[in-house]
Amino acid sequence: MSEGEKLYHERGVSLPETPPPGTAPPPWAATAVVGQALPRVDGYERLSGAAVFPSDLLLPGTIYGALLRCPYPHARLLGLDLEAAAAMPGVRAVIHGGTPEAAAVRYDYGSRQDLRLFPEECLYEGEAVAAVAADTPHQARDALRALAPRWETLPCVVDHRDARRDGAVAVHPAGNRVGEPRVHARGDVAAGFAAADVVLERDYSTPCELHTPMELHGCVAAWDGPNLTVWESTQGVFAVQEQLARYLDLPLSRVRVVGHYVGGGFGSKLQTDKYAVCAALLAARAARPVKIFLTREETMLAVGNRPANTMRLKAGVKRDGTLTALELHGEGSGGVYGGGTGLLEWEVCDLYACPNVRAELTDWAIHAGVQRPFRAPGHPQGAWALEQMMDELAAAIGMDAVELRLRNVPEVSQGRPGAPPYTSTGLARCLREGAEAFGWRDALARAAGQDPASPVRRGAGMAAGHWVAGGGGPPAGAVVTVYSDGSVVLEMGAADLGTGTKTVMAQIVAEELGVRPQIIRVLNADTASCPYSGPSGGSKTVPSDGPAVRDAAVKAKQLLLEMAAEELGARPGDLIYAGAVIHQRDDPSRQVAIVELPALRRRRSVVGVGQRGPNPEGKVTCPFAAQFCEVEVDTRTGEARVLRFLCAHDSGRVLNLKTYANQVIGGVTMGIGFGLTEERLLDRGQTGKLCSKSWHDYKLPTALDVPADIATLPIEPQDDACNTIGAKGLGEPVTIPTAPAIANAIHAACGVRLREAPVTPLRLAAALAARRQEG
Ligand code: MOS
Repeated sequence: MSEGEKLYHERGVSLPETPPPGTAPPPWAATAVVGQALPRVDGYERLSGAAVFPSDLLLPGTIYGALLRCPYPHARLLGLDLEAAAAMPGVRAVIHGGTPEAAAVRYDYGSRQDLRLFPEECLYEGEAVAAVAADTPHQARDALRALAPRWETLPCVVDHRDARRDGAVAVHPAGNRVGEPRVHARGDVAAGFAAADVVLERDYSTPCELHTPMELHGCVAAWDGPNLTVWESTQGVFAVQEQLARYLDLPLSRVRVVGHYVGGGFGSKLQTDKYAVCAALLAARAARPVKIFLTREETMLAVGNRPANTMRLKAGVKRDGTLTALELHGEGSGGVYGGGTGLLEWEVCDLYACPNVRAELTDWAIHAGVQRPFRAPGHPQGAWALEQMMDELAAAIGMDAVELRLRNVPEVSQGRPGAPPYTSTGLARCLREGAEAFGWRDALARAAGQDPASPVRRGAGMAAGHWVAGGGGPPAGAVVTVYSDGSVVLEMGAADLGTGTKTVMAQIVAEELGVRPQIIRVLNADTASCPYSGPSGGSKTVPSDGPAVRDAAVKAKQLLLEMAAEELGARPGDLIYAGAVIHQRDDPSRQVAIVELPALRRRRSVVGVGQRGPNPEGKVTCPFAAQFCEVEVDTRTGEARVLRFLCAHDSGRVLNLKTYANQVIGGVTMGIGFGLTEERLLDRGQTGKLCSKSWHDYKLPTALDVPADIATLPIEPQDDACNTIGAKGLGEPVTIPTAPAIANAIHAACGVRLREAPVTPLRLAAALAARRQEG
C-alpha cells in the first residue's frame, strides 16, 4: 500500500462546511461523492460469494429444524406419532402443541394477538403444528414424516368473492367480514357526478401476488446461557428482536439479531415468523444452534402475499379535463386474519386533485395464508383501476392521456386531514419531461400509422403514481468512528435488502468526511452494535437513515475540529475541515493533518453518534412517478410483449445513479409480473389448496419478459424541506404505475381493455376472440 492510500482522507476535495454543534446541517448545495454512479461498496463480497448471508451461516455444531405444516386450508389435527418421530435417526428435539414452552407462546397475526404457536384447528394450508430438529436437513424432514399427523378435514372458502356470500363457510365464528368497512369521504360525490360531462363506472380485479425473494425465509438461532442470538434473513433486525423478545418473554437485551446480508424481502421480511420461534425453542431443547430455512413451497404458503382485490371505480370528468368525483368500492382478502384492503384507496384518494371522493373498503377472511406488506401495499392494485380509468376518461373527452393527468396535479395531500402541502411535488415534471424523453407523441403517431391488416400491433401507454410513505422519519440512529489512521467505520441498524443501502450511506459519510467511500467499512443490521433503526421498508430507508448517517459524520467532524482547535490555538468555528487536513479559515497555511492530530493519536478514535431529526411540521414528503411504455400484441396468440419503458421518478436527490437505476429496473420488472404473469392460484371450489407452488406454476417475469430498454429519468426537485439529505423513497413508487401503463398500451395496440390482472395470453386471446365475434 502506498503512502497516499494509507492516508484515508483525501486532499484538496471540496467538502460541505461543518455546522456548529447542536445545529442541523444545512442542505447540500453541490455534492462531490453523493450523486455519483459508484459501484457497490460490497459488490465484491456479493458477486464472489464471500458474503455470508444468514442462509449461508454454519456455526459449529449446527443442527437443522423443520416445521410440520397443515396440508389443508382448513383441518383439525387429531394426533401425532411423537414417539416414532423422536426415535428417528439424528433427531434431537421435537416440539408440538403440548410442549410447555411452545404452549406458552402467544402468537400474533395481523389483528389477532392471542393465538397459539401450534393450533389444533388450522385455518390455512401451511399452518405450523409441530417442529423438529435433527442432525441433517433430510433427517429433519424424515422425522416430520414419522410424525404421521392424522387430520380431520373441514370445509373451506378460499376466495373473497365466495366468502362474502350469504351462507358461505364461516372462517371465524363472528363471520367472514373483518371489522367494519373503512370509509374515506370528502366533498359530495353525488354533486360531483352531477357536475360531470362524462361519468364512467368499471370493475377491476388484481391477483394475489406471492413474495419470492431470492433468499428464502429463515434463520439460525443459538443460545449462550440466557442470551439468544438469531441470524435472520430480515428487513429489520430490531423488529425481529422485539417480536422474539415478546414471544419468548425475554428482555430485549437478551435477544441479539444479526442480518448483515439479506437476499430480498419486498415486505415479507419486515417481521419474523414461527420458524424463528421454533428455532429458538428447539435450540434451547437440543443445546445446539438450530438452522431453519423454509422451502420455496413453504414461503409461498405461509410468509405473506399481496392480497387479491376487486374494485368498482366510478369517475366523473368535465370536458375541460377537470375531475369532479371519484368513488371506489374495494374488497379483498389478506387471508385468514384480515389486511386485505390496506392502502387500496390511497391512489384514488390522493393522487389527483378532486374535491369529491368516497372510498369504501371491505375486508374478508378466507382460509389462506396471511398477507404481508408487498412492495407498495395497496398502491399497484389501486393504480390498476385508477390509471386505466384515467385513460378511458381521456378518450371519452377526446383529450391526451398525459394532458388529462396534468390538468389534475395536486399541490397538497388531499387524502390527509387538513390537506397538508408536499415538501416538493415533481408529478407535473414527471409527466411532462417523461413524455418528452419517451417520445410520447411520436409513439402515438407511429401506432396510428400501423398497417391495419397486420396481426401484430404496437401501442404506447402511460400511467402515473405516488407513494404514501416515502418520506421516512425518526427514529433512526447511526455511529461513525474515525480511527487514528484516518480510516472510517459506519454502524447503522438498517438492512441493505440488495438495494445498495450500504453504498449510498458510505457516500454520505464520504461526502462529509472527505474519504473515499470504498474504504469505509459499513457494519449494519446488528442489534448488538448498532443504534436502533426501523425495518428497511416503505421506501424510507434512505430518507430515514440517510440523515442520521449524515448527522453522525458531522458529529465526528465536530470532534476532530475541536481537536484541531486545541492544536492550532484557534476556535473550532474559525477552522475548516478540508478532507485530509483541517485549516484555519483565514489562513489555510495554518493547518494540521487529521492523522497527525495529537489528540486523535492519544484517543485512537473519535465517535460521532447521529440521529434522524423530526420531519417538517405540517408538510408531507411524497415521491411521484410517471411511466411510459410501448408494447406489442400478437392478436393471433394473445401474447403481449413489453418493448420498452421510460420511468420518470421524483424521489428527490439521487444519491447514486447506479443503485437508483437498479431500483427502477427491479420495480418495473415486478410491475410486469403483476400486470402480465403472476397469480397465486388456489383450488377455488374444490380442495382450496395452493396450485401454484413453484416457480414453474407461479410465473415470475424472466429475462425474456422484461425489456432490455428500461430507461431511468430522475426528476430532481431541490427538496430542502424533506430532510437533511434532500432524498425521498424510490423502491416502491416504481412498481405502482407499471402494470396499468402496460394495460393502457395493450388497449392502444389492439383495442381490448382487460381490467382483470394479470393479462395472460389466455385472457387476452379470449377477449380478442370475443371482440371478433361481436364485430
Ligand atoms: Mo416494503 S412492502 O415496506 O418492504
